[in-house]
Amino acid sequence: MNEEKIVYHLNLNEAKIKRAHYALLTGDPERVSDIVSAFDPQAAEIACRREYRTFLGQMNTHPVLVVSTGIGGPSTSIAIDELAQIGIHTFIRVGTTGAIQPNVGVGDVIITSGAVRLDGASTHYAPIEYPAVSHHEVLFALIEAAQNLSIHCHVGITASSDTFYPGQERYNSYSKYVLKRFQGMTEELRKLQVLNYEMECSTVLTLCSCMGLRGGCVTGVIVNRTKEEYIETEDLKSGEINAIQVAVKAMSYLINEQK
Ligand code: URA
Repeated sequence: MNEEKIVYHLNLNEAKIKRAHYALLTGDPERVSDIVSAFDPQAAEIACRREYRTFLGQMNTHPVLVVSTGIGGPSTSIAIDELAQIGIHTFIRVGTTGAIQPNVGVGDVIITSGAVRLDGASTHYAPIEYPAVSHHEVLFALIEAAQNLSIHCHVGITASSDTFYPGQERYNSYSKYVLKRFQGMTEELRKLQVLNYEMECSTVLTLCSCMGLRGGCVTGVIVNRTKEEYIETEDLKSGEINAIQVAVKAMSYLINEQK
């Protein structure tokens, strides 16, 4: 690709990102600065358009992007596609999640090995039979990072849903109604050993695998759905901070190994 050519939504090109190959992704534009300051407090914002806010930082002398994707599969798919067009080959999603297993605590992190594809966006890139799996090098780096940081982690399967309320079987929505096809889903997923709900992993993992890129996801637990439907604001921080630490350290391992 012509290195001057700007990708449409992210407003970036190869020159602006200093030919970076690594990106940390997160849903919330406000979380981007928290993530980048965990490895490069001098980093600068290089683009901000719609939900896509991008900082360019340095990690072990390599350029690394931190980019917000907005919530859910459609906007995440645009971020991954456009970042791949300008040379990014390794993606770590860092976000927050609701656990559905009783043994997973608030503040723990979940490292996703594979995702249940309850999203729609990933089906525009690969058929539903195609697995949403983490790249093994990214997965190993995330596990090693959590262990070395002594952060309590769970490795396993995540359910990624297009909606926060009915698609995660929440009854505290405006209508309080959950479609019949979602009623009882949380209990079924729990029995199938699924660890958690969130909204972007299946898109990240499917798109990365099917396009020959590397993807992995770490999320911080901010609610345990076996106990609560609501998210308490004081529970948000510990999950977020732990997931950020794990993601940043894992990225530094991948960069050091030039993987
Ligand atoms: N993000 C989600 O999608 N669900 C939760 O329960 C928490 C964070």
